[in-house]
Amino acid sequence: MKVVRLGEEILRQKAEPVAEITDEIRALIRDMFDTMVAEDGVGLAAPQVGKNLRLFVVKADDGIERAFINPQIIATSQELVSYEEGCLSIPKIYEEVVRPEKITVQALNERGRRITLDADGFLARVIQHEYDHLDGVLFIDRIDPAKKAKIEQKFLKKAAEKEA
Ligand code: NI
Repeated sequence: MKVVRLGEEILRQKAEPVAEITDEIRALIRDMFDTMVAEDGVGLAAPQVGKNLRLFVVKADDGIERAFINPQIIATSQELVSYEEGCLSIPKIYEEVVRPEKITVQALNERGRRITLDADGFLARVIQHEYDHLDGVLFIDRIDPAKKAKIEQKFLKKAAEKEA
C-alpha cells in the first residue's frame, strides 16, 4: 500500500470507528503489517494508507505484531519521557517528543476480542504515536512550533514541486 505523506488532508482528519471486524478489515490489517515492515516502520495507522478508520498496527522491540481496533488510552503515567520519533508519513524527520512513560490501552484485536494492555518504554511510545494519527495529530504537533513550521514548509514545497 502507498503511505500518504504530510500535506495530505486525510492525515489531519479524525478517523471513524470500525463498525464491524470483517474479512475486509482483517485483510487491511494484513496489508498494513506488510506495508509497515516493507517501509521499515514500527507502527502504522489506517489514515496513513488512506483509510479513515480507527485502527493501527504495531510491531515494536518485542517483535510481536499487534493490531488495535477502536483503541482507547484509558490511563497514562504522570512520569513523562523524551524520545526521538519519526513517522512514515514524514520521512527523514526525527525529533524529540515528550510523552507519558506508561499507558494502559484498550482495543479490539483482529478477532474481535477486547484486549487491555499495560505498556511502557518503546511500545508505549509507538502506541501513543499511532493513536494520535487516529485524531489527525502528528508528532510534529508536539514539538517546538517554529520547528514544526519549517518541516511543514519543506513538505508543502516538495508537494508543489511534484505537482508542477
Ligand atoms: Ni506516524
